[in-house]
Amino acid sequence: MASQRSQVQPFRVMQMLDRVQRRRRAGRDTIMLCAGQPATGAPSAVLDLAERELRASPLGYTEVVGDRELREIVAGWHSSTYGVTTPADNVIITTGSSGGFVAAFLAVLDHGDTVALSCPGYPAYRNILEAFGARIVDLVCDDSTRFQPTAAMLEALPAADKPRAVIITSPGNPTGTIIDPSELERIARWCDANGAVLISDEDYHGMSFGRELATARQFSDRAVTVGTLSKYFSMTGWRVGWLIVPDELVTPIENLQASLALSPPAISQVAGRAAFSEAAKAELDGYVADYRRVRDVLLEELPKIGLGHFAEPDGGLYLWLDVSSVTDDSEAWCGKLVEEIGVAFAPGIDFDPVHGNGWVRLSLCVSPSDAREACRRLGEYLGR
Ligand SMILES: Cc1ncc(COP(=O)(O)O)c(C=O)c1O
Repeated sequence: MASQRSQVQPFRVMQMLDRVQRRRRAGRDTIMLCAGQPATGAPSAVLDLAERELRASPLGYTEVVGDRELREIVAGWHSSTYGVTTPADNVIITTGSSGGFVAAFLAVLDHGDTVALSCPGYPAYRNILEAFGARIVDLVCDDSTRFQPTAAMLEALPAADKPRAVIITSPGNPTGTIIDPSELERIARWCDANGAVLISDEDYHGMSFGRELATARQFSDRAVTVGTLSKYFSMTGWRVGWLIVPDELVTPIENLQASLALSPPAISQVAGRAAFSEAAKAELDGYVADYRRVRDVLLEELPKIGLGHFAEPDGGLYLWLDVSSVTDDSEAWCGKLVEEIGVAFAPGIDFDPVHGNGWVRLSLCVSPSDAREACRRLGEYLGR
């Protein structure tokens, strides 16, 4: 019964998460380094507001493009964080950023259009784009550019591969590396000069361990930027994200979203207003400091057990680790690790269909002591 277009790759990380849940239900100790989400909950200010609003509001559909107050708050936060002018009219609230990608891809691309993506990269872009009939051009990234695409890579594409859209992710998933503002500016200028729409996934903004983070809109008001409450704001299951789009895309996306979603979830939008408060920021910045501590443990411990080649995370939630010296089938290897030593990693093949069999993604959403224990168990396993 299933269509051709639905034949996309499974999201193996989610399968690994299910496996960990089953093990934990059976009482089997498992250190979960595979999750793509904070282990923390929503900030207290959000919970307080949600409790009040649950009884006070009818919580029907909001405006199609999102709760006006939240749009204004996101616009104000974006403007003050990056020193840009972001009008609330250009902010569209979506059902997670995932809902935003679907709407943005439909608004920008026609069947058969070419899209340039970094490889390794976040698998859902590829899966959605394949289902939509887009043609994907991989921008293959390695240590030489800190696992991020560059304007030079776009420049070098043959004419037949000139993209209609370019997707970038900084901090990256699975790499955690950040594109320098000067390179982001070059990428944005290349896109403008070559008629490509730059779609900048800024979902992990707020999570830098020191390196400067720029938004694509500092360099082009033709760029589409994507944000979410799922990562820095620690509200994964609330399903709120946003797009900041050029004037000419506001109405097409509004019309698409009207039919795709009617509106994003009301309680999450209303309560989400408090995620941008000073009180929430203090809590959330504390979590970023925790991720940094976990990163430091991994940077110290992994080389000691012979796994010293990785993308060093500048921020975000992950570390991308080369395990090609010990396996050429990271999915099977991750399966063995979880069963034999109770440590769950995300197999790299999700993120890089070419070289991913020699890589795994580690999540920073654990305690420093669990990260250290996972490295100890892995070291022992590799030494056997
Ligand atoms: C790079 C990237 N973009 C988008 C998403 C989607 O997040 P959400 O729909 O929760 O906003 C994720 C989730 O892991 C991600 O890693």
